[in-house]
Amino acid sequence: DDLEKGTYPYYMLKEIDEQPAVMRKLLLKYQDENGKLTVDQEIVDTMLESDRIYIIAAGTSYHAGLVGKQLIESMTHIPTEVHVSSEFGYHTPLLSEKPFFIFISQSGETADSRQVLVKTNALGHPSLTVTNVAGSTLSRESNFTLLLNAGPEIAVASTKAYTAQIAVLAILSEVVGMSKGLIKKGTMLHDIGIVANAMQAIVDDKEKIEELASEYLSISRNAFYIGRGMDYHVALEAALKLKEISYIQTEGFAAGELKHGTIALIEEGTPVIALVTEKGVAGHTRGNLQETQARGAHTMVISMDGLNRPGDQIVIPHVNPLLSALVSVIPTQLLSYYCSLHRGNDVDKPRNLAKSVTVE
Ligand code: G6P
Repeated sequence: DDLEKGTYPYYMLKEIDEQPAVMRKLLLKYQDENGKLTVDQEIVDTMLESDRIYIIAAGTSYHAGLVGKQLIESMTHIPTEVHVSSEFGYHTPLLSEKPFFIFISQSGETADSRQVLVKTNALGHPSLTVTNVAGSTLSRESNFTLLLNAGPEIAVASTKAYTAQIAVLAILSEVVGMSKGLIKKGTMLHDIGIVANAMQAIVDDKEKIEELASEYLSISRNAFYIGRGMDYHVALEAALKLKEISYIQTEGFAAGELKHGTIALIEEGTPVIALVTEKGVAGHTRGNLQETQARGAHTMVISMDGLNRPGDQIVIPHVNPLLSALVSVIPTQLLSYYCSLHRGNDVDKPRNLAKSVTVE
């Protein structure tokens, strides 16, 4: 067990560091002999026949699904809904005529997701499982599987599976978008390669993030991540990651919604971290962050190169904005890791949590 960890103190850090390599491996796995991205034609055809996609997942995989919805809708123009699996099965919304279900699950064993699959199978709807584990229950019981090939994820807090799930959905979306004639020339092969380099640059500079974790998160009892659009989805995942392993009560919030109530929680020194990777809303998010600063918040900005301003604490390299989540999430994973480490927690085995939850 410990041998696999090598020189790493915790699996989580090892798994964070593996992400650039996982991206490159995925690009190789989903490439045909002509160097083009490819996905099983049956999956593409089934998706093309469907009138609506339903993404079903739990925890971090649900957050990957939120990003996936944006990728699918922008590249394939197929309306997509994302649902928490424990809610969907028992409060099923009105379904479209030709639904296609995508289950996202690192383990492929989550009982909450499986109970939905049992129901959709009974209704005869086609389904795809995006998972890290070949032969897992969800993989076996759905029609199709796309593997993450991320290697075993041991740390309870999911990192490399989240980014691999998003990358697989990006590849799938582009292949379907091209079959539909919506995309003339694919760019994902190149763009995910750029993402891998950007991830590498961030993990190579982790000392800086360790310092920021000490400065911002060493004594606080609560914290906020804010963002809009894609950055909001990442804010949710960043908050979950920090909660899980540091035990700091953290909320991921839509930046514009904060003023409608939750800003009441901001006190002197409350850490508020803004994600700024989307041009159209960057100014608004910065404005929302200033509102919290005026009320005493200790603010931090994670921005994307090109949208950065002097004083931003973390600037990530520029990537295709559709893929920004893959990169902006990395500093948030590292902030969580160092915060948990400095608090003396068991980073890989946080209290009350299990890697795979097989009860509903
Ligand atoms: C557990 C884990 C989470 C994970 C969730 C869904 O609660 O602690 O990290 O995101 O299950 O797991 P799955 O294997 O379905 O992605």
